Amino acid sequence: MNADAAVMEHFPKTLNVEESAAFLARLQDQFQEYGYCYYAVEIRETGEWIGFIGLAYQAYKTAFTPAVDIGWRLVPGSWGQGYATEGARRCLEHAFTVLNLDRVIATCTLSNKPSERVMQKLGMNCLGHLNHPKLKGYPEYERCLCYGIEQAEWWDL
Ligand SMILES: CC(C)(COP(=O)(O)OP(=O)(O)OC[C@H]1O[C@@H](n2cnc3c(N)ncnc32)[C@H](O)[C@@H]1OP(=O)(O)O)[C@@H](O)C(=O)NCCC(=O)NCCS
Repeated sequence: MNADAAVMEHFPKTLNVEESAAFLARLQDQFQEYGYCYYAVEIRETGEWIGFIGLAYQAYKTAFTPAVDIGWRLVPGSWGQGYATEGARRCLEHAFTVLNLDRVIATCTLSNKPSERVMQKLGMNCLGHLNHPKLKGYPEYERCLCYGIEQAEWWDL
């Protein structure tokens, strides 16, 4: 999935096997440290793995962070069926009812309309723009949107 150019259209580059392994190791470290991470996603009926959706602590410095973000990346064959929204809804429920977080944010590049649409369908609000520190040096991707939702807003949905 991380090596697929279509999946990584809104990122500066695809990942090779070593980079994907390092990414997975970072997720496992996050789970050990915070008790949450980006989780593997399977289709319930078939058990087929289709990507990840989950929560991650983001320490990079912007007006919106440090914060816990919600993120998603799915294989193309699964797109457009509501899976990202369905999985992310359960992650927000977990974030607010089990982890008792105050707020969850999400970021995407200005061009990533599918991802922004998922944020909107989840009831998140646009908080503004940021220059993403992790995308510094990539002018095509650096400018990002930040959405967010507070626990109190989630209960009101
Ligand atoms: C972003 C991603 C996870 C969405 O997964 P998904 O399961 O297709 O999402 P959903 O089906 O829940 O919702 C997608 C929404 O985006 C909409 N959409 C898709 N392409 C769009 C476009 N070009 N412009 C506007 N909206 C678009 C869909 O119509 C749908 O909205 P709707 O239900 O109102 O019709 C998936 O596209 C993906 O993995 N992309 C590559 C990785 C990535 O960019 N991750 C996010 C990084 S911030």
